[in-house]
Amino acid sequence: MARPAAGTLLASALLLLFPLLLTDAIRNPIRLPSDRAADLLSGDSGDSLVGTRWAVLIAGSNGYYNYRHQADICHAYQIMKNGGLKDENIIVFMYDDIANHMENPRSGEIINHPKGKDVYAGVPKDYVGRDVNVNNLFAVLLGNKTALTGGSGKVVDSGPDDHIFIFYSDHGGPGVLGMPTYPYLYADDLNDVLKKKHASGSYKSMVFYLEACESGSIFQGLLPEDIDIYATTASNAYESSWGTYCPGDSPSLPPGYYTCLGDLYSVSWMEDSDIHNLRAETLKQQYQIVKTRTSVDGTYSLGSHVMQYGELELNLQNLFLYVGSNPANENVTFMDDNSLSFPMAAVNQRDADLVYFWHKYKNAPEGSSHKLGAHKELLEVMAHRFHIDNSIELIGKLLFGSEQGPHMLKTVRPAGQPLVDDWSCLKSMVRTFESHCGSLSQYGMKHMRFLANICNAGVSMDMMAEVSAQACISIPSNRWSSLENGFSA
Ligand SMILES: *[C@@H]1O[C@H](CO)[C@@H](O)[C@H](O)[C@H]1NC(C)=O
Ligand SMILES: *[C@@H]1O[C@H](CO)[C@@H](O)[C@H](O)[C@H]1NC(C)=O
Repeated sequence: MARPAAGTLLASALLLLFPLLLTDAIRNPIRLPSDRAADLLSGDSGDSLVGTRWAVLIAGSNGYYNYRHQADICHAYQIMKNGGLKDENIIVFMYDDIANHMENPRSGEIINHPKGKDVYAGVPKDYVGRDVNVNNLFAVLLGNKTALTGGSGKVVDSGPDDHIFIFYSDHGGPGVLGMPTYPYLYADDLNDVLKKKHASGSYKSMVFYLEACESGSIFQGLLPEDIDIYATTASNAYESSWGTYCPGDSPSLPPGYYTCLGDLYSVSWMEDSDIHNLRAETLKQQYQIVKTRTSVDGTYSLGSHVMQYGELELNLQNLFLYVGSNPANENVTFMDDNSLSFPMAAVNQRDADLVYFWHKYKNAPEGSSHKLGAHKELLEVMAHRFHIDNSIELIGKLLFGSEQGPHMLKTVRPAGQPLVDDWSCLKSMVRTFESHCGSLSQYGMKHMRFLANICNAGVSMDMMAEVSAQACISIPSNRWSSLENGFSA
């Protein structure tokens, strides 16, 4: 008997499998990667765009020492506006305590570059003051008006053909992003909301740009690769991101400014977007430019690792699909080397407030009440840091011994794993710590990894409460430690 040719065997195997393949093909058409790429690219450089572009812009901080986050957000609004997005489709979260702050040398204006012009004009006040909170952010993303409290009522009322762009700028820590009104935004909750949005079939694809310390930890091991979301972050999961255009930097700040005006990753993507024809620039090209600039030309001295997460293939698309393009740039041909690449100085996000308080103190007239006040502020902010660092270190030693304790503060899980498996444990640890030791505050967010490691090590909440009580006999009266804003988890 002749042996059947290999081809025949393959054919019979396929025949047997055919019903299976067929149902699978109906559910999930077989596609070559090149088809996907072709799809991604089709229609996004012309005007044949289907659907609406939505943008959600979030500044997660308040306080004049955090000037830069709201400056970033205002600047992003101007890019969306110049790109052709309509106000009804741009939703802005900003505390709005900067433009008219008494320390602002240009009252009613915000700048995002030492030589930059005002970026505050025209920015919609959708969610300001206490309305900048996690509950409203989630309601806006999910398009759920009934879940809103206050604000303009604008939500991402998007359909299946729409494209959504999200940009957030603030302090963060491992697994957490700041919000001016507590609680903070936790990575598990954010990713759940994104999955829910995807399940509701109300977008075609989404881009998320995220500036914060340890921002990689928000998506690492958490953001699925198949929900049509592409994210880039200012830093990896275990490093700081950087403020820029700070006092003492070059180019120097205009007279009267002693607070950082921008953040390194944020101004990098925005200054690139300001000058390019975004119909011709892909997300990937921008990622490369921003990565180079944010790494300070690959040195990572005063810089961080810009990361990508989610569905990476989406980065073949043009920026135009998400943020439009300024008609004034229509004739700019994209070139890697025409991006702004001047030497930059930067300040670690976590130390930017110290720089502010120091310069405020230094610049106040000798012997004035301003000088005295600034001195007090500087001491308070330092004392809070000291208190938080010491309490955490002591808790580490009480739980794990004097040798292993300090190690637990820094232990990083293998790449690709989320910070913690049990997020509700992490949140309970935060509340337990804060109820004994006071608020973590924006500085204390850096210790989130330690609190997560306590969960990963299986320490009970009772044990944590006991050692926290031992480590912190009382909550300092310092405004940073105060619990009057509630728990951050
Ligand atoms: C919208 O929010 C309200 C209030 O939180 C909730 O009861 C409702 O289920 C939400 N609707 C949808 C469609 O998720
Ligand atoms: C771009 O070039 C075209 C053709 O030369 C010209 O008509 C148009 O005005 C230019 N656009 C801008 C914004 O300079």
